[in-house]
Amino acid sequence: MKIAPVTGFAAAREYYRFFHDPVDAMRECYKRYGPVAPLGPIFAGQPSKPRLLIAGPELNRQVLSDPATFRTTGQLIRGPRGSAQQRIRFGLTRMNGARHKQQRQLIMPAFHKSAVDGYHALMVEVATGVLNKWKPGRVYDIHSEMRAFVLQLSSAILFSADPDEGLAIGKLMEEWLLRNFSSSVWMLPVDLPGTAYRGLLRHAERIEKEILSMIERRRASPGKRRDVLSLLMEARDDENRGMTDEELVGQATILFGASFETAATTLTWTLFLLAQHPAVMRKLMDEFDAVLSGSAPSPDQLPKLEFLAYVIKESMRVLSPVPYAIRATARRVKIGSLTLPHGSTIVCGHYLTHHMPELYPEPERFQPERWNSIDPSQYEYLPFSAGPRACIGAIFATQLLKISLTLMLQRFRFAVVPGTRIDRVARITMQPRHGMPMMIFDNDRQYASSRVAGQIHEMVELP
Ligand code: HEM
Repeated sequence: MKIAPVTGFAAAREYYRFFHDPVDAMRECYKRYGPVAPLGPIFAGQPSKPRLLIAGPELNRQVLSDPATFRTTGQLIRGPRGSAQQRIRFGLTRMNGARHKQQRQLIMPAFHKSAVDGYHALMVEVATGVLNKWKPGRVYDIHSEMRAFVLQLSSAILFSADPDEGLAIGKLMEEWLLRNFSSSVWMLPVDLPGTAYRGLLRHAERIEKEILSMIERRRASPGKRRDVLSLLMEARDDENRGMTDEELVGQATILFGASFETAATTLTWTLFLLAQHPAVMRKLMDEFDAVLSGSAPSPDQLPKLEFLAYVIKESMRVLSPVPYAIRATARRVKIGSLTLPHGSTIVCGHYLTHHMPELYPEPERFQPERWNSIDPSQYEYLPFSAGPRACIGAIFATQLLKISLTLMLQRFRFAVVPGTRIDRVARITMQPRHGMPMMIFDNDRQYASSRVAGQIHEMVELP
């Protein structure tokens, strides 16, 4: 197959198309060309270099198991050389080679099972506090609620249970993420008074200053803090090297960025899917009744919630929270029958792999029971990606999802507001474009689905 260069108006159109709706762009390309497909320019720069979409286990393995050839580029605004923006975006997701390996080794212990077990009590406490504020009988934008909910949880665990410290920096980081994806920043990336781009740069400086003062406070009064930032400050690699302050700032920011929208989005989609599948919801409640009898889960009860684990897996398959990953080739490389030059862009379409009928029969159906009889490899099922750069927070995220869902679903019944239009927007994570209006009731177990409209029907068959 020959890849025709996409230039001029067509390039602009393709660029806009991927920027506007990457899932639609991927689905169309896959339909037209199959698992190795040319994709229009994705980001600005070097339009002559091929952009390739891949899907399926073999190609995923080739790309994701070889980080030396297929390097990460980062999707946040780069910022001028020497700027705070450049420093705070330079965390694990942006690093390659030996530096990535060394930093990953330093961060890993804070996300091992034993460390994550240690966050259990705080997760239950913070989540219960948030849920106590919900008023049954009201309509909420559940996606905004999930963002606020995960913001509190992530901030408390990553930074500090004291909201004046933890939540304050979390809020700054949430705003920073939004600014990174604002079209006014992308369209006019110039550092002039009044531009959104300058606003982003100033905001990054504030975040850097805040994290540096948090580090200073911890150094001034060393104590028994167990937040992730404190653990990172204590971490040492094989050669007894710790992180520099600059590395701590970058890693702390990126850990928040990587955890916040992903977990919030997964919760939103899972609540939506459960609300629209009353039979699944009833079965889940049976399991909660049998294992938890209405209480919050203890660490040893979580593994007993087998059907909940299936629900979460199936939700992340059907409505993949991270629908694609991007890599750049570090040398000339062959993919399928194509030879790509150094610097080509590869988009791994995780969403497409998750919807392949040869891997998942009736892929658009939400069927948690299928997990009883399937055991896909890491390259067939990759909500947390796969290979040496797979998500470092997968255990943390799974625990957060399980605790949050058990607490929410035992206490409340969720119903989508009838007639809601559900479209998607995907910038790193795939979220509902216009939010997710849902009614919350005391859990009277009168589960019923609602009629909804929009792109959601392309992605999942609703009863
Ligand atoms: C449901 C929640 C989550 C999902 C769906 C998710 C998904 C992913 C995916 C797909 C990647 C690979 C991205 C790529 O290949 O370009 C990734 C990487 C990463 N995730 Fe997560 N993530 C979640 C939660 C978290 C949490 C809670 C943390 C930490 C607190 C975290 C930290 C990271 C980091 C640091 C990386 C980069 C790893 C590396 O490059 O070595 N994630 N995540």
